[in-house]
Amino acid sequence: MDYQKDIAEILHHVLEDELSVDEIINLLEKPKSDDHGDLAFPAFQLAKVFRKAPQEIAGNLADQIEDPLIDRVQAVGPYLNFFLNRKTVGQAVVQEVLAAGSAFGEQNIGGNENVILDMSSPNIAKPMSMGHLRSTVIGNALANIYQKISFNPVKINYLGDWGTQFGKLICAYKKWGDPEKVRENPIQELNELYVHFHEAAEEEPELEDEGREWFRRLENGDEEAIELWQWFREESLKEFNKVYDRLEITFDSFNGEAYYNDKMDEVVQLIDDKNLLKEDQGAQVVYLDDYDLNPALIKKQDGATLYMTRDVTAAINRYNKFEFNRALYVVGQDQNYHFQQLQAVLKEMGYDWADEVLHIAFGLISIDGEKMSTRRGKVVLLNDVLDEAVNKAYEQISQKNPDLDNKEVVSEEVGVGAVIFNDLHNERTNNFDFDLDEIVKFEGETGPYVQYSRARAMSMLRKADDQGIDYKDTGIYNLSDDYSWRIIKYLHEFPSVIVSAYEKNEPSIVARHAVRLASAFNQFYANVRVLDESEERPARLALVHALTIVLKESLRLLGVSSPDKM
Ligand code: ARG
Repeated sequence: MDYQKDIAEILHHVLEDELSVDEIINLLEKPKSDDHGDLAFPAFQLAKVFRKAPQEIAGNLADQIEDPLIDRVQAVGPYLNFFLNRKTVGQAVVQEVLAAGSAFGEQNIGGNENVILDMSSPNIAKPMSMGHLRSTVIGNALANIYQKISFNPVKINYLGDWGTQFGKLICAYKKWGDPEKVRENPIQELNELYVHFHEAAEEEPELEDEGREWFRRLENGDEEAIELWQWFREESLKEFNKVYDRLEITFDSFNGEAYYNDKMDEVVQLIDDKNLLKEDQGAQVVYLDDYDLNPALIKKQDGATLYMTRDVTAAINRYNKFEFNRALYVVGQDQNYHFQQLQAVLKEMGYDWADEVLHIAFGLISIDGEKMSTRRGKVVLLNDVLDEAVNKAYEQISQKNPDLDNKEVVSEEVGVGAVIFNDLHNERTNNFDFDLDEIVKFEGETGPYVQYSRARAMSMLRKADDQGIDYKDTGIYNLSDDYSWRIIKYLHEFPSVIVSAYEKNEPSIVARHAVRLASAFNQFYANVRVLDESEERPARLALVHALTIVLKESLRLLGVSSPDKM
């Protein structure tokens, strides 16, 4: 049910078509205080039409409205306040959630069209950063949200696996590398080789030429160069996959920058055919003056291609392959300028879909440097960060529920879930500090808090089942107290929460709603004796049942699991 729409239809009817249902929906407000009812309609706009004061119109309307959905309507000044019938609405909402199960909230907005998510995209031979983690979890949540409303998400991990740095890395490896060490500790070792190359090149500038030469060989398909590059790539992927496995995130493609190596010539030619390729100090550029942007660099003086060249190529290639409805690039906001340029180049080339090439930017995470990095030497491996989160989760679970079976499994779900949830609960563009102790807590606006609330609800249902209490009949809904009503309203809101998260590409809208729902449940739990024998007991349990479904689905959309016991 959608009571907002139902009320709008009732109003539309008494207004004799003065305003359309959609116009009324847009005007309806959620009053700040419960004293003003559940929905409020401001009558200002009608003053002109009816040539009366809004106060008078509100008063007249109030007298005309009667419906089983509505308990009472009150005119307060120019506002019309609706108090809904809590039993009728509550019954409809609970029934709908229980009938739909995890499908509750599904809607057809996307018409099965493809949406590309360019996400995660770490650089091989380097540690995956907290920024890549953000990209991974935001991209994954958006993919789930788009899928929920009938888009077909395509998750692409655009690995940073090409560029002059790999020539340097190969060069460094040839000089100082040890295959054993690389196999043992690929990221750490390769990263060190690369750093060492730069230090050495300060003394010995010829090294730069050697590095360039190796990259040239790589680009031209030299066997030895390709073999080493492939090996580095594989070892790096193994390391990245450890993190993806724990996050339970999969990709539809790992076509990274290298994939476009042999596809760039054609695109550069295309740019030239459109008369857009201009020479600027020996380099090839596309001028973007009309967009107030600096020229986009397509080829360097020495003919080498760039990050931009590959991104233009990838975008065109992806459009030809997927005819995407939109392409979302989930990348830190420090690359804002790059994506403005990318879109502008595509526009200059005359692609009307360029408007749907969107940079989904996010803020930076800073970790408490001392706590996280120094202990382990130079690089912070995300896998270690997850380990630490899981250990902290384990400590808490052991305290709260020492007898719990499979504590290890649950701790993994809670620890990893805590990291993901924290990331998504923060508004996308915010910068924030990463404080492991805080985010793994069972209280506050955390993932474990939401998981724990649901687990408590599940335990209540298990007890009811054990006692043979029947709450599966949804015809029994008879609750009108404030605690139950608050839960009903949040359940009712869930489908529209998904839509706003989609419209703003903002998973935090789902995460915040989940926290509100969990906290509404905790107040209910603290004030209502659910399992005590009463006329309301079956309805209360049905409400709790509906709540567990929506909490689980919210967490699923965010990519967080829901342990039944914790
Ligand atoms: N590998 C890049 C980095 O770590 C991110 C790639 C983002 N995606 C893209 N299509 N440019 O900075």
